[in-house]
Amino acid sequence: MSSDTPPEEPHEEIEIERRQVAKVLAAVSGAGAVGAFSVSALAGLGESGKIEPPEPLFVEGVRLVDADGNPLTTADAIPQTETLEPTTVYPEKEGGGAITEDRAAVLLVRFPEDSYQEPTNLDGTVSGYAAYSKVCTHLGCAVNGTEGNQFYCQCHGSQFDPLQGAKVTGGPAPSPLPQLPIGVEDGQDGQLLLATGPFEGPVGPQ
Ligand code: FES
Repeated sequence: MSSDTPPEEPHEEIEIERRQVAKVLAAVSGAGAVGAFSVSALAGLGESGKIEPPEPLFVEGVRLVDADGNPLTTADAIPQTETLEPTTVYPEKEGGGAITEDRAAVLLVRFPEDSYQEPTNLDGTVSGYAAYSKVCTHLGCAVNGTEGNQFYCQCHGSQFDPLQGAKVTGGPAPSPLPQLPIGVEDGQDGQLLLATGPFEGPVGPQ
């Protein structure tokens, strides 16, 4: 063997390392795919890979109901306070019940009427109530938390101000939670909350 001939053993070690790195990369990319799928499912992605528009679920006159399908009145949906106590509501299904798809979920809040500021659509509030999509505009998690008087998304920490049109006040979300304009109609047990139109912006990740 000449002194210029490269030793065989280091090449084998390099090849083993290369295969190990490839395995790690495959595992990492697989985990990413699982994570992405989970978020996509939560956000209600369609087969095309795009967020299915929620607008058909909310049109003028569709009542807001709780998860059991019970209509909500202005008197008892949420106690009037000056602190954020959101409740999750849904569009009423034709014939009764609730459409509880993730993309249909709405955060209903109540504050004194004069608390709201721009860019809240004040015409889309009623008796101190305002409503916003519950699907985070970052990666589509359900916005389940609060931080003071802010909505708080526990996935990556985005915050939204319900008194200012749910604009982003922290974290990576690129846009506000779209507002759902609401009004009331007379019912047997009081004034029933309903949508007066579709969401005022796209639901979910942009
Ligand atoms: S999905 Fe809400 S902050 Fe990332």
